[in-house]
Amino acid sequence: MSYNYSGKIFKIRFPFTDLSSEKARPALALSEPDHFGDIQFVFITTQKSRSFGQTLDIPDNILPFSSLVHTDKLFLLNNRLIIKELAHVSTDFFESVLKKIIFNHVICYYNNIHRPSQDQNFIQGISRIPYGGRIYDEKEILNLIDASLEFWLTYGRYSEKFEKKLAEYLGVRYALLVNSGSSANLLAFMALTSPLLQDRQIKCGDEVITVAAGFPTTIAPVIQYGAVPVFADIELETFNIDVSKLEDAFSSRTKAVMLAHTLGNPFDIQTIKAFCDKYGLWLIEDNCDALGSTYDGRFTGTWGDIGTSSFYPPHHITMGEGGSVYTNNQLLKNIILSLRDWGRDCRCDSGKDDTCKKRFSGQFGTLPFGYDHKYVYSHFGYNMKVTDLQAAVGCAQMEKLPEFVRKRKENFNFLYEGLQELDKYFILPESTRKSDPSWFGFLITLKDNVPFQRNELATYLESHNIQTRNLFAGNITRHPCFDNLQEGKDYRLVGTLKNTDKIMNDSLWVGVYPGMSQEKLGYMVKTIREFVEGKK
Ligand SMILES: Cc1ncc(COP(=O)(O)O)c(C=O)c1O
Repeated sequence: MSYNYSGKIFKIRFPFTDLSSEKARPALALSEPDHFGDIQFVFITTQKSRSFGQTLDIPDNILPFSSLVHTDKLFLLNNRLIIKELAHVSTDFFESVLKKIIFNHVICYYNNIHRPSQDQNFIQGISRIPYGGRIYDEKEILNLIDASLEFWLTYGRYSEKFEKKLAEYLGVRYALLVNSGSSANLLAFMALTSPLLQDRQIKCGDEVITVAAGFPTTIAPVIQYGAVPVFADIELETFNIDVSKLEDAFSSRTKAVMLAHTLGNPFDIQTIKAFCDKYGLWLIEDNCDALGSTYDGRFTGTWGDIGTSSFYPPHHITMGEGGSVYTNNQLLKNIILSLRDWGRDCRCDSGKDDTCKKRFSGQFGTLPFGYDHKYVYSHFGYNMKVTDLQAAVGCAQMEKLPEFVRKRKENFNFLYEGLQELDKYFILPESTRKSDPSWFGFLITLKDNVPFQRNELATYLESHNIQTRNLFAGNITRHPCFDNLQEGKDYRLVGTLKNTDKIMNDSLWVGVYPGMSQEKLGYMVKTIREFVEGKK
């Protein structure tokens, strides 16, 4: 289809630019004439005139004077006003003009539709205080629109950028983007079952030390594969593994430790690392709830062999659905990449061929020599990539991460200070020695023999519009998904899980996410105090 108008600059009798007369002006046509002969134009001025608003420089040599397109000044004018054609802009320039116009409208949409609801006044007892949620501005939406317009859809430029930004932030060599935190955990664990790891490969029946108080998909991959999770109890104050149980948990089949930094609070990395080093065990850190937490000055998720993140909305940053697997180990990175991308041996980026220059000249398995490397499979893999649209949102979120982390810490401290006087009733969270947590939530555990129950507190807070959460599964071994598993064979318990059960029965958590204000936090403290007062 050929266009006679759009993408061209015309000299035009502008009827109303300065409300005085019909002036001759250049303008860039954005459309063909409609039924009435009307064309969408965008206004142009020379740089000599004063320029305000959203402008783009027109490349030299297109018009006799250096000129600007005012992308926020659109006019519908009839083609009979055209005096003559002046120039034709390049496709690249036209694209940047169109993009800018769209972006202007997106900002207008954000300011009018999203922003007012974000800025709404907080009304005690009426406004909901969620435990988490997306914090964003127009930049996330602009990136999303940009990726949509590009329409690459699959892993692309934003995905690559996000992986680089995350790796830089964490200080790791490799960060791979995947479609959820659960997928990240699955890939992290499955990577350790790769035959490429030779005698360190985890095999069916091998054991993995973990805890039962947490999120199901930290341990699901272990069971799905046919390895044996070994559940040790936790400490009530840090809600992380009680490291004094590690030696009891160990057996000749132990191959790995796989643990989450619960609610952002790092587990005792020093002790666990030393234990892993002593027995030659892998360490996977489920860092899904702890992005930005540090232990001994270094980010959690980067101490073990593999770390994982989730970017589901309540998490420290979000892209809707998303996750990441990170490591400093090149072999593990290659295995994870293979597993993420269908199990393939080839490591060409999406849309690229023959990066290794040996596409048709390798010998793999018992395949004929030179079989196309693009279709050679070294693992039984999955497809766990994200779309570039998700990554685009993530890139904007990465810019905000340091401030999000700061705010989470600040909010946590506010709640801690406000609730400290209730320590006769509650076990309040304690950050692990040597750590600086980027908290996911504020866990409150009822002390034994208090005159009320967890669900009474939860119901009271919920009825006052404060959202609460249990510590996920509480004790995962008590869930229906364990009904057909046999203790001692499919999983093992290290002694009793007394504290795990206590957390399952007597704990709940409230939010510390960056969407909290002092007003909201103050109201939360006040409401919890009121509840306790009423029960005395
Ligand atoms: C500790 C932990 N691991 C893994 C996940 C799973 O992440 P996703 O929801 O992205 O699958 C979660 C989810 O909240 C989590 O809290």
